[in-house]
Amino acid sequence: MEVYEALKARRTVRRFKPDPVSDMALERILEAARWAPSSRNQQPWHLVVIKDRERLKAVGEIARTGGFIADAPLAIAIVMSDADQPGMDAGRALQQMEVMAWSEGMGTCFVTLPNDENRRVKEILDIPVEMDLVTVLPFGYRTDDFKGRGTPRKPLAEMVHLESFGRHPTG
Ligand SMILES: Cc1cc2nc3c(=O)[nH]c(=O)nc-3n(C[C@H](O)[C@H](O)[C@H](O)COP(=O)(O)O)c2cc1C
Repeated sequence: MEVYEALKARRTVRRFKPDPVSDMALERILEAARWAPSSRNQQPWHLVVIKDRERLKAVGEIARTGGFIADAPLAIAIVMSDADQPGMDAGRALQQMEVMAWSEGMGTCFVTLPNDENRRVKEILDIPVEMDLVTVLPFGYRTDDFKGRGTPRKPLAEMVHLESFGRHPTG
């Protein structure tokens, strides 16, 4: 799939086919994260691959805005070790995984884990307390009717500024 096409078509997916994710597709998703850029090439990522149904269910039960993790065939927890710019590095890897998954016919959803949920998920996954759990991304092949399909965007003219902040493109 062309990069531009994938970037424009990608949407958050919260409903998945029950089919297992192929090993090759999983490897591509993990490689996509591995080849992301990071500050001073620190590569501070740890990726916890979760396929065990009971564990997926347990995480889904904790995540208030990510209950669908329980029904996904696969999830990957993004964990950061100490780094210069962990948020940026995490975001770069996440986005690459997301677009890679999309091009493989899959989808995912960033799940926000507030403090208490974050702590409980870390316990379930045996993640050391000093490490930062950013999110748990569920992955699965997408159906045609995935929720969120129509998420619109603001017009470019609203976010683009020409030469100075006060000037927007016209037309
Ligand atoms: C930082 C961040 C946190 C998000 N948290 C959640 C979440 O907890 N649960 C959820 O269902 N979607 C979550 N989302 C998905 C957004 O709602 C979604 O990306 C946005 O509505 C745009 O839709 P699209 O991804 O389909 O283009 C999150 C996205 C981002 C980038």
